[in-house]
Amino acid sequence: MNTTFSLIKPSAMNHCEEILMAIKTGGFSILAMKSQHLTLSQVKKFYKEHAERSFFEPMCERLTLGPVLLMALYEHNGTDTPLRFRALLGATNPKDAAPGTLRQLFGVDLDFNAIHGSDSDISAIRELSFFFSGIETGLLFNDSRGLEL
Ligand code: TYD
Ligand code: MG
Repeated sequence: MNTTFSLIKPSAMNHCEEILMAIKTGGFSILAMKSQHLTLSQVKKFYKEHAERSFFEPMCERLTLGPVLLMALYEHNGTDTPLRFRALLGATNPKDAAPGTLRQLFGVDLDFNAIHGSDSDISAIRELSFFFSGIETGLLFNDSRGLEL
């Protein structure tokens, strides 16, 4: 798939323009983008895969502290775009992230790692559909009808 979903977290919104430049330099284009102040119930639904983890509640609350930037990203003629974007993101913990990756450049630690990126094609379909309509992105996922959002 040549499309993925990304979200700039509230703690990194002050670096929004630099992050967008780095995403462009990294070879990704913006298909759709919007800023939104997420509610706690939206975030909990978005991150439901982590509902049983000890870090779940505080992690979700941090995502409601201010507006986020929601992005549908694509690569012209790309494949495996979610995984390729994860490589640009770097490790989940910015302290372990390789030099030049977005989390190394703009993150602080595990609690404030600046930016999210879908971890697979199936996650990207779910996450794009979670925040964007097909009309907003021009993407119509044939296989997303049975997907539990
Ligand atoms: P996860 O999906 O494991 O990482 P990634 O964002 O790289 O896909 O975790 C989701 C978010 O939860 C992660 O970006 C930061 C936060 N988190 C913690 O606060 N503590 C933790 O121990 C882990 C693993 C993640
Ligand atoms: Mg994840």
